[in-house]
Amino acid sequence: MTNLMTYPIRIMLTLVLLALLIAAATCTSPAPPLVSQPPPKPQETATPMCTRTLNIAHRGARSLAPENTLAAAAKALEIGADMWEFDVAVSADGELFLLHDDRLDRTSNVRELFPGRAPWSSHTFTLAEIRQLDFGAWFVALDPFKQIAAGKVSPQESARYRGEKAPTLREALEFTRQNNWRANIEIKDQRGKPGDATVVEKVVALVDELRVTDRVLISSFNHSYLERVKKANPAIATGALVSTPDPDPLALLRRLGAQAYNPNVKAIEPAEVRRIRDQGFDVFIYTVNDEPTMRSLVEARASGIFTDFPQTLKPLSADCR
Ligand code: G3P
Ligand code: CA
Repeated sequence: MTNLMTYPIRIMLTLVLLALLIAAATCTSPAPPLVSQPPPKPQETATPMCTRTLNIAHRGARSLAPENTLAAAAKALEIGADMWEFDVAVSADGELFLLHDDRLDRTSNVRELFPGRAPWSSHTFTLAEIRQLDFGAWFVALDPFKQIAAGKVSPQESARYRGEKAPTLREALEFTRQNNWRANIEIKDQRGKPGDATVVEKVVALVDELRVTDRVLISSFNHSYLERVKKANPAIATGALVSTPDPDPLALLRRLGAQAYNPNVKAIEPAEVRRIRDQGFDVFIYTVNDEPTMRSLVEARASGIFTDFPQTLKPLSADCR
């Protein structure tokens, strides 16, 4: 009798155990922490090279692959960047996709495909139209960072780049999650365009839906967007982009409820990086392509550096000495 009762229970337990094992195996690993280190203590500041600076591939590894594409993301991942940064724009039909400029003509063949649509403003094209465009051929033709000429991009890679599409935000975030990676979503300023009213809430809704809250930093030069992010989901980390020095970065971050100050490299000195970091905020600096500046910012304990050359930053941003 005992045996007859325990047999089905054993089977059930085995099935439950199997289901748990399968669930554990298929689950995505937890995201690595976005912030490079816990907030440093003031007394640590005199120690050079004492924190790890995140290597952030600017628009993907854009010196080696067409910017703001999954090819550039894959290249940055291959190099070992900690994170990729990309720009989000809104199409005429309200879809979110990756693009830096207000116009489509620098990085795609839109002039050829839609000759009558000058000045090719991105918000006047539907996503279906944008998806017809080639966002890779221009890179191979122009070699903007001369890395093809330097032999750093193989002929096979160049051939693959032709025909590259502009990813949707969904595709970019899915790529990030599938690779257990991190992303900086920069929301481009949509003021004066139809997307302005809803872009932030759409981005946050997608971040929530795809459960990538702990993998992303949302930044913008439009600081009211950062307040809207916090209203929609206070758990998402935000970064205030500035192109000129803010008179009081700490007050700015406190007012916005932001976690990070993201200045242009020309708008900040190493001492200021240390001061902001000592107050427990992150400092992510753009766009740094030369090695001496990278070194000085790593020494200043910058939280992260945006670079078009993650391959150059890689050996410098390793664990501190
Ligand atoms: O987020 C850093 C940097 O990407 C901001 O400038 O013009 O390259 O988008 P931009
Ligand atoms: Ca950007």
